[in-house]
Amino acid sequence: MASIANIVLGVGGGVAAYKVAALLRLFTEAGHDVRVVPTRAALTFVGTPTWAALSGHPVSSEVWDDVHEVPHVRIGQQADLVVVAPATADLLARAAHGLADDLLTNTLLTARCPVLMAPAMHTEMWLHPATQDNVAVLRSRGVEVLDPASGRLTGADSGPGRLPEPAEIFAAATRLLAGRSSVADLAGRHVVVSAGGTREHLDPVRFLGNRSSGRQGYALAATARARGAEVTLVAANVALPDPAGVKVVPVVSADELRDAVRAAAGDADAVVMAAAVADFRPRDTSDAKIKKGEGEPTEIALLRTPDVLAEIAAQPRSRAGQVVVGFAAETGDADGDVLSHGRAKLGRKGCDLLVVNEVGAAGHPTGFEGTDNAAVVLGADGSEIPVPLVSKEALADVVWDLVAQRLPAVRREQQPPR
Ligand code: CTP
Repeated sequence: MASIANIVLGVGGGVAAYKVAALLRLFTEAGHDVRVVPTRAALTFVGTPTWAALSGHPVSSEVWDDVHEVPHVRIGQQADLVVVAPATADLLARAAHGLADDLLTNTLLTARCPVLMAPAMHTEMWLHPATQDNVAVLRSRGVEVLDPASGRLTGADSGPGRLPEPAEIFAAATRLLAGRSSVADLAGRHVVVSAGGTREHLDPVRFLGNRSSGRQGYALAATARARGAEVTLVAANVALPDPAGVKVVPVVSADELRDAVRAAAGDADAVVMAAAVADFRPRDTSDAKIKKGEGEPTEIALLRTPDVLAEIAAQPRSRAGQVVVGFAAETGDADGDVLSHGRAKLGRKGCDLLVVNEVGAAGHPTGFEGTDNAAVVLGADGSEIPVPLVSKEALADVVWDLVAQRLPAVRREQQPPR
């Protein structure tokens, strides 16, 4: 686990402040020492007792409390990371202009550590040139300002402006604490990630499917976005929230996944197939629910589904230097161990990298469930990079490191999406 850090959690005055209590729990459960600094407006949404009880520290919004300890300077100086959530339009503006009219804005001026801001506001406020200019100023100074998520806002309206999910803010904070702050090495790149598990329907209520949760694919998408990429996430039956700033294309079956991946791969710099794609589908599907009937069940005839990864890897790369990555869950058997099966699959599929999980290896989850994963990343160039049991975000970072090494230099005319 990463080492323990002093985190300042600045809370802005928005309805999304209630979600930040969950973020605070994620930090404290990871062992971090968190000092919550809400703005006055934040306390009208979630009060001091909640922040004090969850953080185990006194809470103040003012520079006038405990003045003998000079909190307006000390809190910022001692921080390893400042996280601001929700970063309201007003708070972004005050931070961009260097105002210091409460404890949080003072802390932002005295902190020399990485600063992460997670905006939340109505779409009109987010898209207003004043807010966009403030965000640009903060980013130019090295502040990591996340893109807000799109979706249902406080009222009946929806659009960009939702607070990114606590788990996503936590993941971005963990990256910053690991010193990966300003890695925008995928800026100007378009990457396609498939995630989840496909379902092949037998009738309106039954399908052949698998246990994939989509977590690894979603971690790959969020991590690529954090590193500056434009990301298309082809999601097969995933129940996780959309990662902020990522284009999500929902699909159900292997055929749909193939169409969506191929459509997006045309101009992609990298395609990462983390989805568990069904190898077979029922030959016959029924529009009506199949009845149990009498006697023994009838057999289900199966047909092969297209191998999307092999197809993408086999066709002339639609973009020069496109990097194609597969995932494989393997077990050892009489014909060979996990890595020899992985090496053979890498050759069969024709991809550049293959991330090999050992299924059911003692002491760690299978890779299908849970938030951690262990793997060996095999390269077509013969390389073999072992990754110990780490978070799925950390494994995603290793994959993107290896992809980035293989990408040709960014063309001059390309601009980062931010
Ligand atoms: N894959 C794919 N299309 C399929 C099946 C798999 O694109 N129809 C991709 C997966 O997304 C993954 C990789 O191929 O990146 C390996 O999947 P796996 O199920 O291990 O490969 P299979 O070819 O099905 O091999 P096996 O015989 O071991 O099941």
